[in-house]
Parts: sequence; C-alpha cells; structure tokens
Amino acid sequence: MDNEKKDLPNKPQEKMALLKTKFPPIKVLECNPRYARILSESYAGTTSELSAITTYLYQHHDSVDLMPEFSSLLKEIAIEEMQHFDILAELIKLLGGDPRYHNSRGNHWTPRNIRYLTGNPYSQLLADIQAERSAITQYRQQISHICDPYVQRILECIIQDEERHMEIFEKLLDKFCQCPKP
Ligand SMILES: [Fe+2]
Ligand SMILES: [Fe+2]
Repeated sequence: MDNEKKDLPNKPQEKMALLKTKFPPIKVLECNPRYARILSESYAGTTSELSAITTYLYQHHDSVDLMPEFSSLLKEIAIEEMQHFDILAELIKLLGGDPRYHNSRGNHWTPRNIRYLTGNPYSQLLADIQAERSAITQYRQQISHICDPYVQRILECIIQDEERHMEIFEKLLDKFCQCPKP
C-alpha cells in the first residue's frame, strides 16, 4: 500500500543527530589522578567539550536567520557535547581528580577558546568540521595513554559521536556549496 511508504524526512541531518550512541556504565578500573589530568584536556582545554558547547550554542543563535538548518543542528549537537562533558566530569572524579574547568596543565578554560565567526555560517561550518576532527585525534591519543579498559570504551563511544557530528557538518557543507549563489 502506498500509505505504508511514508515520505522520507526532508532533513536527513536532523534525523542523524537524533541517533544517540549507547554509553557503557561510567566506571573506572581504579583511581588514577594522572589519567584524570589527561582527560581534563578534552573536558576543558582548547579542544574540549566545554569549547564545543559554548561555540555551538553561540553559533546556533548567530545562524538562526542565515542558515536555519545549521542552526537547529548546532543546538542538538551542543546537547550531545554536554552529555560528553558530564561523562568526562564523572570520570575525572572517579579517577581522583576535581572536575574544575581547566586543561591538563591546570590552566583555566578561557572564552578565547570559542570560535564565534559571527555572521559567517560557512566559516563556522568549516571551523566546526576541523574542531570535530581535532577532538577525535585528541581522544585517540588519550586512549593510547590511558590503560583502563572502562575509560577506553567510554572514549570510543564519544569518538563515535564526534565522527557522526563531523559527517553531519560535512553533508551540510556539501549542500551549502551546491546552493546557487544569491
Ligand atoms: Fe563531544
Ligand atoms: Fe562533537
């Protein structure tokens, strides 16, 4: 029957953003403050969940009129970054650290980490793709330095999310580039 075949959603990127990764239980093998310090770089360093949340929410508000599809995706992705941020805080505590907003060298997180790029969704999109790529590289390096299978599994799940974010942004960039210039 025809009515069984529902119309595909118009915005596949939005659909993709809703596919949540299932996270394993948040636990660690044993207390290890050195591992907590390593994780604080992805928690509140330059390339970090905190930088992603603040950047994406700003860009979400900034691009709402210029590029509404990008704007709504940014908000959904920011919420997923907040979930990562929360998970990292929990891991840092379990490993014996204090989840304050500083990087692995103890430097406080700064708003200079935010990529505003006001009024330029194209540049925002390019910068966001690059930031997701850097986050993935950083998490992979951390996995190689953290010999704790529980933490490694959780970081692998976060990487899956970041890879999906990167794909969503890349698809949007393709679409953006195909649009006729006004
Ligand atoms: Fe993230
Ligand atoms: Fe991400």
